[in-house]
Amino acid sequence: MAVSGLLFIAFTLVHMYGNLKAFSGQEKFNDYAHHLREFGEPILPYEGFLWITRVGLLVALVAHVTSAVILARRASRARTTKYQYKKNKHSALSSRTMRWGGAALLLFIIWHLVNFSFGKVNPQTGETGAAAGDPYTLMVDTFDVWWMTVIYLVAMLALGFHLHHGTWSATQTLGYTNTATSRQRAKQAGWLLAIVIAGGFSLVPLSVMFGIIE
Ligand code: HEM
Repeated sequence: MAVSGLLFIAFTLVHMYGNLKAFSGQEKFNDYAHHLREFGEPILPYEGFLWITRVGLLVALVAHVTSAVILARRASRARTTKYQYKKNKHSALSSRTMRWGGAALLLFIIWHLVNFSFGKVNPQTGETGAAAGDPYTLMVDTFDVWWMTVIYLVAMLALGFHLHHGTWSATQTLGYTNTATSRQRAKQAGWLLAIVIAGGFSLVPLSVMFGIIE
């Protein structure tokens, strides 16, 4: 769970950084999307790098979800009788929302891929596939629809919560939290990654909504 989680952190950091190219305008953003497909040529075929990334992410996703199910089963087997009285005194909201938040993120990713990658659904014009236009236009058209922006922003909030607790859990699993200082650092890393990644991703939809990117 920790290793696949760290892989997702690396991917979301790079993806978020790439999205910020939207602030450089349509041509630069589309150039970047195009270069992603040519990356590694001629050693790799066209889209070779993209396909390696896709397969890597799919393997990580299967590992992540399978581990979550195994851990949830183990936890429910460890306590067969329900608590008479249960009050969450010391657990953070982010730790209590890992399962539902994770499931919501999975739904979001499915829609996100239909929207931007495999289906290229333009919610504004109703067009799909190549007819939906270039990646920049598709993104701006998507976030020009207010409820699409809301879906993405809510998903980024869920992502922030998930990253906050996930980073802490991963560092704990990998054995970095055995001193008070390392525990403190792990918590700070959780906050930092949640704010940088979820905040960075939210900048593009927010900027389209406020007319900064058009
Ligand atoms: C506001 C948040 C996000 C925006 C605006 C966004 C935007 C985009 C865009 C424009 C593409 C298409 C790129 C292209 O065709 O070159 C894309 C693809 C993708 N995004 Fe995102 N993204 C966001 C968040 C996320 C998150 C949180 C994840 C996963 C954790 C994610 C995973 C992916 C994947 C797997 C692809 C497919 C790449 C491919 O074609 O194989 N995205 N995203």
